[in-house]
Amino acid sequence: MMSKKMRVVLLGPPGAGKGTQAKQIVENTGLVHLSTGDVLRDEVARATELGKTAKGYMERGELVPDGLIIDMVRGRIESAAAGFLLDGFPRTVEQAEALAKIAPVDVVVNIQLARDEVVRRLTARRVCEGCGKIYNLLYNAPEDKSTCSACGGKLLQRDDDRQDVIENRYDVYERSTAPLIDYYSERQLLHDVDGAQSSQAILSEIMAILSE
Ligand code: AP5
Ligand code: MG
Repeated sequence: MMSKKMRVVLLGPPGAGKGTQAKQIVENTGLVHLSTGDVLRDEVARATELGKTAKGYMERGELVPDGLIIDMVRGRIESAAAGFLLDGFPRTVEQAEALAKIAPVDVVVNIQLARDEVVRRLTARRVCEGCGKIYNLLYNAPEDKSTCSACGGKLLQRDDDRQDVIENRYDVYERSTAPLIDYYSERQLLHDVDGAQSSQAILSEIMAILSE
């Protein structure tokens, strides 16, 4: 089933559940999922030129410079222009303006979550090294703390999921990314969703927004 709202942006603070929702949404809609964080972590793992430059910013919880990010996503967005779900992009007004020129978006879903719950969730997050499945030791625990229940892969903690870095990521979000709430609201594209609900309740709300 293809969604009517085909070019979708997931906005929200770190740990709001963008990646968790994105995996479910693409299964339900066939949209192409593009997570700039996942692409960057892959570049870092492969020690590419971009990865070597991005690594320091990511470890500190700072944004990677706009020019590098825009160059990185342009081709991917162009080739998915029929239907995409962006997760973690755009993150600045400059990125949003570049996106508007590449492929204008149809709908922006803003998942809201307060800072204290972000810290709680991210310090308990584990991610499968093999299949990328996202777990939480508090809310969505694997059977074994270090093994993926789905594929048997090893569960890792992200380098930037340390309390001090999480706090900085939230500050950076408030300073650089939260202005996109007004930006998309003025363009009548914004839909708020309460991220403190269960994953299933959030997914139902998002699917309703996408089929409006
Ligand atoms: P990125 O990877 O995008 O990280 P982020 O925005 O900080 O978001 P997260 O991936 O941490 O959280 P999420 O919202 O996906 O939550 P998740 O579903 O995992 O970016 C990393 C870095 O890359 C940036 O800091 C920056 O350096 C760089 N970067 C990336 N994009 C960039 C850009 N465009 N420009 C510049 N730099 C860029 O869920 C979190 C946890 O909560 C999990 O444990 C999950 O199981 C749990 N959970 C999810 N939903 C629920 C629920 N409803 N109830 C209970 N628990 C839940
Ligand atoms: Mg994510």
